[in-house]
Amino acid sequence: MSDGSLSPASDVIVAANSGPLSGEVVVPGAKNSVLKLMAATLLADGQYTLTNVPVIEDVAIMSDLLRAVGLHIQVEPARPGEVGQHLVINNSGAITPVAPLELADRIRSSVNLVGPLLGRFGHVDIALPGGDDFGGRPIDMHLRGLEALGAEFEVTPEGIVGRCSTLVGAHVDFDFPSVGATENVLMAAVVANGVTTITNAAREPEIVDLCTMLRKMGCRIEGMGTSTLTITGVLPGTLQPVTHEVVTDRVQAATYIAAVGMCGGTIRVSRANAQHMGMMLTRFTDMGLVFDIDDEGITVTAPSVLTSVDVSTLPYPGVATDYKPLVVAMLSIARGAGIVTENLYPGRFRYVEELRKLGADIGIDGHHAIVRGVPHLHGASVVAPDIRAGAALVVAGLAASGITEIGDVFHIDRGYEDLVGRLSALGASVSRIQPQ
Ligand code: EPU
Repeated sequence: MSDGSLSPASDVIVAANSGPLSGEVVVPGAKNSVLKLMAATLLADGQYTLTNVPVIEDVAIMSDLLRAVGLHIQVEPARPGEVGQHLVINNSGAITPVAPLELADRIRSSVNLVGPLLGRFGHVDIALPGGDDFGGRPIDMHLRGLEALGAEFEVTPEGIVGRCSTLVGAHVDFDFPSVGATENVLMAAVVANGVTTITNAAREPEIVDLCTMLRKMGCRIEGMGTSTLTITGVLPGTLQPVTHEVVTDRVQAATYIAAVGMCGGTIRVSRANAQHMGMMLTRFTDMGLVFDIDDEGITVTAPSVLTSVDVSTLPYPGVATDYKPLVVAMLSIARGAGIVTENLYPGRFRYVEELRKLGADIGIDGHHAIVRGVPHLHGASVVAPDIRAGAALVVAGLAASGITEIGDVFHIDRGYEDLVGRLSALGASVSRIQPQ
């Protein structure tokens, strides 16, 4: 993984009708946490160890990006009895806050380098972030929040140059609880002079994970997990490097729940944290799934037929937008019709065309999808348009008759650790091939 590439971009996933599923799947660490934890290591010198790190392409890209600005990163395998690799990150303080364009524009999280680099070095020069294409993904809230602390930015079509002499604590009130903007302001405010208050802050479990690691490092943060964060800045020299375990990936957990929902059976989703998935589990229960929840994970049993429900995406603790392609895939074979409303990304319906190729009956009206359940999907060749939609197409392929081929699987590799291996272990007929 350390060379930055997991697999050839041309691989295809081949899914055949499967089910019922059985057995156990272990859910890896969360992409949307680890990438920000990696950025946080810019804040203080020393050696950090991140554990439960998922083996995914975005971690490889972020590693290369951080190496390019001056960190030393080593990948180590999981210790016996553990899941997930270790990242050992050394920050010697020899940082060049200029990020190479070809890496920064491959992932959205590259923007999360802006806050810590400005906070620590007073300068950042980075390409505009890339990531999944859901229509416009502006960064105005990131910049306005950091400007409130005293940063100045020059934004060009190529990138962002930011500077500050000293960051000074301020009140930052977000129009919308943006995950990335909350993280960026947080990582700058922890080393600013004085107190910063962030209101309407995002409160996703991945942000709580970041706050937890920052506090272990010595940062002073109150209100963790609420929409008001109060941060008292400290001198970077007082911060300590830490060892930290990445929180479990709730979207990967939901992917295996969706798979058993569509294929039938009972599976154990180990390490899934039900507390982080409350609203989604309620909707899944309404669809007929039965959950047995304990401290180590979730056992889930599928009904013989799923029941349609209406679902709206919202910031946490609402149903996350990242679950939505899975929900739409499930509704496509449920009894009745369901309306799925997307409230975060107007452009996040590109995969609907691919599900229709499998026979799904889905209409789009603005930011609503009207999904009328059909008795059966049928196999077809489809293309993964982004990470989560790609996984949803694989799961849908398992419930379709015949063979479904999913192309552009490099999208899936960005966020899923061995999706094919984990589904196969549950009894699914799925494989990965390199086309001749
Ligand atoms: N927004 C703005 N201006 C900003 C920032 C955000 O208008 O300055 C808008 C966005 O355009 C979007 C909404 O606010 O309409 C929410 O964006 P947010 O900033 O919360 O999202 P993000 O930080 O860019 C993260 C995840 C996404 C996930 C969203 C929402 C990472 C790397 N990405 O993105 O995850 O969908 O939060 O929960 O953490 C994925 O994992 O597949 C993925 C896309």
